[in-house]
Amino acid sequence: MPQLMAMVSSETNQTAVLSTVAAALHEAFSFFWTGFYVVEQNELVVGPFQGPVACLRIAKGRGVCGNAWQHEKTIIVPDVDHYPGHIACSALSRSEIVVPIVLKSGHVMGVLDIDSSELNTFDEEDQFYLEKICSYLGERFS
Ligand code: SME
Repeated sequence: MPQLMAMVSSETNQTAVLSTVAAALHEAFSFFWTGFYVVEQNELVVGPFQGPVACLRIAKGRGVCGNAWQHEKTIIVPDVDHYPGHIACSALSRSEIVVPIVLKSGHVMGVLDIDSSELNTFDEEDQFYLEKICSYLGERFS
């Protein structure tokens, strides 16, 4: 967390900050896919990410990302095959966590989505720290 904050705290450009957060998390933990989907009208549009090409747009309420946005809460999926409506951007993704980024206005700016090629990768500890990062981002871009 201190390393991440040191890298982005003096940068105001949203793309620069989100790209750096995605790259730092991806490299540190060797995830399968690490990135952001950003709200644009009634859809999520893929933003800065690391990993293979993924879905470009996701409707509100669709998939894990669209549900995390709609319900404004973190979703941990231990096994994507058991999440109804999961959007499979890659057959290699087996588990995931999606954390919403909420602005001070209460609107959702986007979500952080991390995918793993292993089952059961994410737990409450991941949730705790990723929510800290996302709440920092929500404050920064409010
Ligand atoms: N699996 C996600 C879609 C995005 S990709 O995993 C990068 C979902 O169900 O929302």
